[in-house]
Amino acid sequence: MIEIRNLELTYRASHSTHHALRGVSLSVPRGALLTLLGPSGCGKTTLLRSIAGLETPDHGSIRIDGETVFSAEDGIDVPSARRNLGMVFQSYAIWPHMSVFENAAFPLRYRSKVQGISARGRVMECLALVQLQHLADRPAPMLSGGQQQRLALARALVASPKVLLLDEPLSNLDARLREEMRFELRRIVLSSGVTTIFVTHEQTEALSMSDIVAVMKDGNIVQADAPRGLYQHPSSEFVANFLVRSNLVPGTVRDSHEGQANIDSPVGVIACLIASPLTAGSPVTIVLKPESVSLLPPAQAPEAAVGQIEATAFMGDAVECAVRVGPIVILAKLPGDTTLTAGDTVAIVVAPNQNTAFPAQS
Ligand SMILES: Nc1ncnc2c1ncn2[C@@H]1O[C@H](COP(=O)(O)OP(=O)(O)O)[C@@H](O)[C@H]1O
Ligand SMILES: [Mg+2]
Repeated sequence: MIEIRNLELTYRASHSTHHALRGVSLSVPRGALLTLLGPSGCGKTTLLRSIAGLETPDHGSIRIDGETVFSAEDGIDVPSARRNLGMVFQSYAIWPHMSVFENAAFPLRYRSKVQGISARGRVMECLALVQLQHLADRPAPMLSGGQQQRLALARALVASPKVLLLDEPLSNLDARLREEMRFELRRIVLSSGVTTIFVTHEQTEALSMSDIVAVMKDGNIVQADAPRGLYQHPSSEFVANFLVRSNLVPGTVRDSHEGQANIDSPVGVIACLIASPLTAGSPVTIVLKPESVSLLPPAQAPEAAVGQIEATAFMGDAVECAVRVGPIVILAKLPGDTTLTAGDTVAIVVAPNQNTAFPAQS
């Protein structure tokens, strides 16, 4: 549905230039929900605004549903209004002097019909999709934050766009509401069938909502895959550690074969996945997920490395433990009913093949 090829964009100010997109290529299948995930400043908004026709890249091309809407090389730049997009940005503007219905109907104000149905019917259909049909006549400022967010979505969908672009649309909501809206947003997007690009800097948001997550770093997409694939098979140390706040454990390859290696480390021999071939004896960094670590009474795991708990943090559903093993401290995430406390001596057992080892960066 969306084909982006080699997009480059440099912001030029009087005293500085910033290379915001460095050759981005991306495909989004029809009907998919793709998330752009990356740290602040990596170029997510710039990429989204380029697709929307609000920025003009220096190189590359963008096709939407088979039509080239932008090509720097061929001098094509279809105006934003004719790209057939729906957009919701972080500061979604709800018109305060209008009712819920009038807000949702705004993009259709000059149309009496959309795809053969009356504009009024289409507006009510979209309000029903976001479950606001019973509030159609209410003044828009009298909606809660979450309801305003849903109204912004209805307004973005009302003209039946080919593509929906969402730039951190949940970031103004409080944590609880944001979690509820994740499910809601995915339901709305799937039932409307619209191809969607969603931007966020939050890992759980990306993993829980998306068909595909594209991880961005410094103006590039470094990996794109289904959430589970990305979580299990990160292709770089950056992706692995960005997705899950992890322990970076130094190690040395003992032996390796077909996507897997045994690594000597301060926490014993760990069976790891590898993204590229590693030779025996070479130095690596294991991106060790806290949830892959179990702590046992030393007698139950006589082979395992032994450490001492330095601190614990009770999180409700989990207990995080910082364990000192020789020169390093490992963070372990244990079930919430764990009763271990600071000072306890424990054996450290790492589940096999749940972590990835990468060549050590010199
Ligand atoms: N209008 C602009 N002029 C100059 N630099 C900009 C402009 N907009 C964004 N940038 C810079 O480009 C980089 C990417 O910005 P942005 O796409 O907004 O990142 P993200 O959305 O991932 O946080 C940042 O370093 C930002 O400071
Ligand atoms: Mg942004």
